[in-house]
Amino acid sequence: MNSTKLSLSTVIIIAVVGVVLVAGGFLISSATPQLLPAQASAESIQVDELVRILLIIGGAIFLLVQGMLAFSVWRFRAKSGDSSDGLHIHGNTTLEIVWTAIPAVIVVVLAVLSWQVWNQLQTPKENEVVVHVDGRRFNWAFTYDAPINLMPEQIDVNSLPENVKVDVQDDGSLTITSPELHTYIGQSVLLQMKPQDVIHALWIPAFRIKQDLIPGRETSIRFTAVEVPGETYPAEYPVRCAELCGANHGLMVSKVIVHKDEASFISDWLVPMMDKVIHPPTDPVLAGQAILTSGVYPCPTCHVETNLGWSPASPVGPSLNGVGDRAAGGRSTATGLSAKDYIYQSVHEPAAFVVPGFQPLMPQLNIPECQALAIVAYLCTQTDSGTPACTVDDYAAKCGSSAPAAEATSEATAEATSGITSEATVEATSVPASEATVEATSAPAEAATQEATAEATSGS
Ligand code: CUA
Repeated sequence: MNSTKLSLSTVIIIAVVGVVLVAGGFLISSATPQLLPAQASAESIQVDELVRILLIIGGAIFLLVQGMLAFSVWRFRAKSGDSSDGLHIHGNTTLEIVWTAIPAVIVVVLAVLSWQVWNQLQTPKENEVVVHVDGRRFNWAFTYDAPINLMPEQIDVNSLPENVKVDVQDDGSLTITSPELHTYIGQSVLLQMKPQDVIHALWIPAFRIKQDLIPGRETSIRFTAVEVPGETYPAEYPVRCAELCGANHGLMVSKVIVHKDEASFISDWLVPMMDKVIHPPTDPVLAGQAILTSGVYPCPTCHVETNLGWSPASPVGPSLNGVGDRAAGGRSTATGLSAKDYIYQSVHEPAAFVVPGFQPLMPQLNIPECQALAIVAYLCTQTDSGTPACTVDDYAAKCGSSAPAAEATSEATAEATSGITSEATVEATSVPASEATVEATSAPAEAATQEATAEATSGS
């Protein structure tokens, strides 16, 4: 070891060993992908390529270290009867320089490659759609803005019930919330994420993406689903929480569903979802039940509710079986609120009254008013006798479609004059009357219908 001169035979041995190690690294790297989930996104291919390089280098180093160990154990083992100390060797400058320089070069190369992949993942893609992600103990909610004109039927926004109108945005899109993430092959998606309580991490193994959700901040991550050979569509892949966030962290699972193409994404999922939002049950009890069973809110991971089939392993919230009785009885006495107000308060502002024996763990879900009222109506009916402990009598007035005609008209006029409808008006006036009506009604702002019709008629 003390000689710095290398004989030809040593050089040949080093070269042969080097080739064997690199070949071994390649072998290890090509066997390992069998253990990984499907490559279901463009990002997964880039990330796996980086992992492959890591495995080639790591595999070669593994074989070198283990090989040296095995060789030394065999070659330098003590002969029988030899109890003397081993040779005392102190340092070898050449060797130390070599085994410092080589890892340094490897680390720099890997840092540059990783940086390139990270940069590519972060680059905004063309025609990317934004999906908002809410993470809270213990479920995921994915919110989409869906153009309302995708509906096969004509939707007159003004005639929609109040509880639906709140989901219609200024640009005529409808807000859809789903407990599962839906996309289609080739669609580039930007996930904008916020937690409603503690730190969570969205992890989609098949997409090779993982990103923390941090309180007080909005974090984001991108993906583009790609076709997986041999897969049947729609394909499902798991979505998990990768940050320990409480007792039922393990229940914080969902799915990403990849549709074959945009057409099936719209017809098989988006339109049926929009239909559910546009036509909610008029009975508040049924509407509440539909909301609770939709999976949009995380209630089933913390509360027992036998009628809805909820039975979490560790219920960290009070049981909702017979909650109407307790709201009208002991809880009403303790808080001085009526059963309805008590339940409303508990849904609307969970930390206001915490049931004795429980922790204030329920996130502030910011449930829209009409949804909250419907949930209250349903929970009022959860009594032993089956007779509701309370009712939400003002649901129809606040949330139903029976808004007074005068109010509806003034609202329509306000919208029409706000400029949203100018496009529809122009179109309507530039074509024959009969067509104008059709065009105008298909425009995003339904208020335009009246105006356009009026103008078209007077103009011809
Ligand atoms: Cu959220 Cu773990």
